[in-house]
Amino acid sequence: MAHKSDPKRPAEIYEPYEEQAGVPLPVIWIAIALAFWGVLMLYDTGDSVRVSLNDRAEDSEALANVTPDEGASLFEANCATCHQPDGEGLRDAVPPLAGSEVVAAGPGIIARILLRGIDGPLTVADATYDGHMPSFASALSDAEIARLASYVTTRWANGPDGAASSADDVTDLRGEVADLGSFAGGMELARLIPSLPPQPPMPAPSAAPRDDADVLQLVFAGRDEVWSCASCHGDLGQGDETTPRLAGLPAAYITKQLHDFREGTRVNESMHLVASGLTKGEMTALGTYFATLRVPSNAGAVLSGDLARGEELALQGDWSIGVPACFTCHGASGFGVAPGFPGLAAQHAPYTAAQLANWAGGERHNDPLGLMAEISGALSTQDRRAVADYLATRPPVPAVAATMTRMETDDDQ
Ligand code: HEC
Ligand code: HEC
Ligand code: HEC
Repeated sequence: MAHKSDPKRPAEIYEPYEEQAGVPLPVIWIAIALAFWGVLMLYDTGDSVRVSLNDRAEDSEALANVTPDEGASLFEANCATCHQPDGEGLRDAVPPLAGSEVVAAGPGIIARILLRGIDGPLTVADATYDGHMPSFASALSDAEIARLASYVTTRWANGPDGAASSADDVTDLRGEVADLGSFAGGMELARLIPSLPPQPPMPAPSAAPRDDADVLQLVFAGRDEVWSCASCHGDLGQGDETTPRLAGLPAAYITKQLHDFREGTRVNESMHLVASGLTKGEMTALGTYFATLRVPSNAGAVLSGDLARGEELALQGDWSIGVPACFTCHGASGFGVAPGFPGLAAQHAPYTAAQLANWAGGERHNDPLGLMAEISGALSTQDRRAVADYLATRPPVPAVAATMTRMETDDDQ
């Protein structure tokens, strides 16, 4: 693929989980090209991140227990796709770390944010955001969270206070915040950080579109041979080791899979029975329902795969066997690109590995462009386990906002 460079900042490319059913194929391919460019940029700028960090390390005590390379590469792998390698954020989508009043509050606050995530409006550096900051509680160890919190403070806070966070602090914090869920936006953060600027009001809990009684009936009670989705996929669409996670997959992707199960172009006995009893309208409604669910990850690395190899395949690919980086198509952080590219982050490892084996063996062949058959066939069994385990450790896709879903039209297939 050509290495195109484009001087514009990628504000409008950042739509890893927006729903836009009916986007024509050429647009998807342009999106892939842009995503690919974004990944190249990420690696191009990686070196300069390290250089500037080393410059600062000399006059900063806070880095004493953080190896610069560890902090920098953790940041690159987990944060830079959204907050950008230079910490400038993305206009209207992701707040900056540079100049942020939140970051200035120090590593303890940052560690809390990494453990809990943020879901709600937030004002930072004179601009207001209303996105989703995923929780990294399951993706990162206590030591990694401590390193990142110190790294971010040292690199972007005005005058680091030297209060590097330690793994023990994070272990304590984990217990403290275990049942709290995401921060509900800037109002809640302001209780911990009195110096924050005025924060936007939290929206009143609104009637989400998912409260459609007919959809809830199908999900939780079922109808004849349409067994309840929850009985296999879990009450929250989170799946388990034998059933895939549906929460946060693109609505149009879910609808297409249901269609394919019914037609037999994707083969699974249970899902064939279930899908055969659904109308087209119900398939669309179910797709929308599961796409909007926000559910923490319950997946983990259970296949003894080599996580470093998995990360390499996901972020860089392996050109020696002709495999492009998974995230060029499956979106930054593996969050998917609607409508056609499902998210892979937090998917259960046995399911992911099984699908890769199915494509390699020709049992799954409902991918119209044949993209996955070729990729899967090039991967060894160990590679499939490695990438499946790595993806299972990633934080889940922050699901689409309800307003976007409501604008969606019914035009699958
Ligand atoms: C999927 C994109 C995404 C990823 C990945 C991500 N963030 Fe965020 N982050 C956000 C968004 C969006 C917000 C604002 C949330 C809101 O508006 O409610 C945010 C908010 C924050 C904030 C508070 C606001 C600010 O700018 O100071 C901090 C600190 C932060 N993130 C740090 C991190 C770190 C460190 C990582 C890597 C471990 C990370 N984020 C990974 C999207 C992301
Ligand atoms: C009897 C258990 C069972 C029930 C009930 C069930 N599913 Fe499934 N579902 C599965 C299994 C197992 C798979 C994985 C199939 C495979 O390996 O290809 C699956 C796969 C799927 C997929 C494809 C996911 C992906 O990532 O490609 C979708 C979409 C789906 N189910 C939706 C539903 C919906 C909607 C309902 C309720 C109307 C439902 N399922 C009910 C067991 C079930
Ligand atoms: C060139 C684009 C492209 C690349 C690169 C790519 N994929 Fe995919 N992948 C797709 C498409 C398109 C689908 C959806 C197929 C469908 O509609 O059934 C898919 C589906 C999948 C699924 C099924 C998800 C589910 O929920 O059932 C898995 C698993 C998967 N890919 C894994 C990977 C892995 C691992 C890599 C990297 C080694 C990778 N993909 C690289 C295009 C790509």
